[in-house]
Amino acid sequence: MQSSTKKSVLTLLFLGVISAISAPTSAPKVVLTNDDGWATAQIRAQYNALTAAGFNVILSAPADNRSGSSSFTAPAIPLIFPCEFDSCPAGSPAQGFNATDTRINYVNAFPVDAARYGIQTLSPQFFSSPPDVLISGPNIGANVGSSIFASGTIGAACEGSRNSGITSLAFSGQSTTAESYTNLDVSTSSTIQSAVEYASATTAFIQKLFGTPSSPLLPTGIILNINYPSLTFPSNGSSCSSAQQFQYVFTRALPALPFVNDVNICNYSGNLPLEATVSSAEGKCLGSITVLDNTLKLDVGADTQKAVLDRLSGAGIPLVCYS
Ligand SMILES: *[C@@H]1O[C@H](CO)[C@@H](O)[C@H](O)[C@H]1NC(C)=O
Ligand SMILES: *[C@@H]1O[C@H](CO)[C@@H](O)[C@H](O)[C@H]1NC(C)=O
Ligand SMILES: *[C@@H]1O[C@H](CO)[C@@H](O)[C@H](O)[C@H]1NC(C)=O
Ligand SMILES: *[C@@H]1O[C@H](CO)[C@@H](O)[C@H](O)[C@H]1NC(C)=O
Repeated sequence: MQSSTKKSVLTLLFLGVISAISAPTSAPKVVLTNDDGWATAQIRAQYNALTAAGFNVILSAPADNRSGSSSFTAPAIPLIFPCEFDSCPAGSPAQGFNATDTRINYVNAFPVDAARYGIQTLSPQFFSSPPDVLISGPNIGANVGSSIFASGTIGAACEGSRNSGITSLAFSGQSTTAESYTNLDVSTSSTIQSAVEYASATTAFIQKLFGTPSSPLLPTGIILNINYPSLTFPSNGSSCSSAQQFQYVFTRALPALPFVNDVNICNYSGNLPLEATVSSAEGKCLGSITVLDNTLKLDVGADTQKAVLDRLSGAGIPLVCYS
């Protein structure tokens, strides 16, 4: 290689690194939220993975665990007790941020309020515009079937999609428990390893959507509910242990009413498989993708399913049939 060519290749690599670090205005803008709280390992792993991949990310999540709070909303109030895992002292203001990285924010209210704060207050400050996408999760534990009505993860995604018109996706992972983000650097627990794998899967999913541009990013009026399979560490060869092994099945949340047919794929007899069945299938390493109405939180009709399915296959999401 001639030295001038070498130099320009190095310059390109260097510019690539710089652009990944400084997240230029052209990078997709993401608001990241959850219902388990701003200081969990899962949401920080997700923040780190998206940021490292070059996304322009703001984290806005509850100050403590608000799991199961559905679409509840309330004005944020100052902290009576410390934030979860002592991540802020009692008496802290209703909204706060990490002093060394001001993109990491808490809101002392519900997931819906944290999502709204990220979209309406923080996005104008950091992006000078609305975000391109809202990511809720990955949640600690599955959000499948009727549990989606109680889920704060789903509640926050519906808030982003319904009230702000932002493409919103909810992610959940089964094999995790509550751990502090401070364990990320020091622990190899299965929760920490799972948090890193789930974060990597979410990042790959979002990269695929932005890699094949479409306006809007997904059809409107919906959210996606994505459930990751359970992971096993250490891996024994046949178990699921890496995000790179994940494939996805297009699913529904609740059993269909009589005479209701889903999008016609895979020779399923009338209806898609249930997300609860698919995401808990042993040894298959399958994630489930369900399209939910952003207001009713119910499965959408076959036409909307088809529009979303076409978009996801077009973006190269690895979809497979379930049997
Ligand atoms: C704030 O960020 C710094 C640097 O990333 C980290 O060391 C610290 O633990 C964080 N604190 C909280 C409460 O997020
Ligand atoms: C939050 O609470 C739920 C159930 O109450 C629990 O399953 C989850 O692990 C908790 N999360 C955290 C971060 O404490
Ligand atoms: C590997 O681990 C999975 C999940 O724990 C288990 O179901 C399977 O039987 C194991 N396989 C072997 C070959 O040990
Ligand atoms: C559906 O069934 C038909 C007829 O048995 C078969 O030719 C086709 O390959 C099947 N498609 C899928 C996706 O399994």
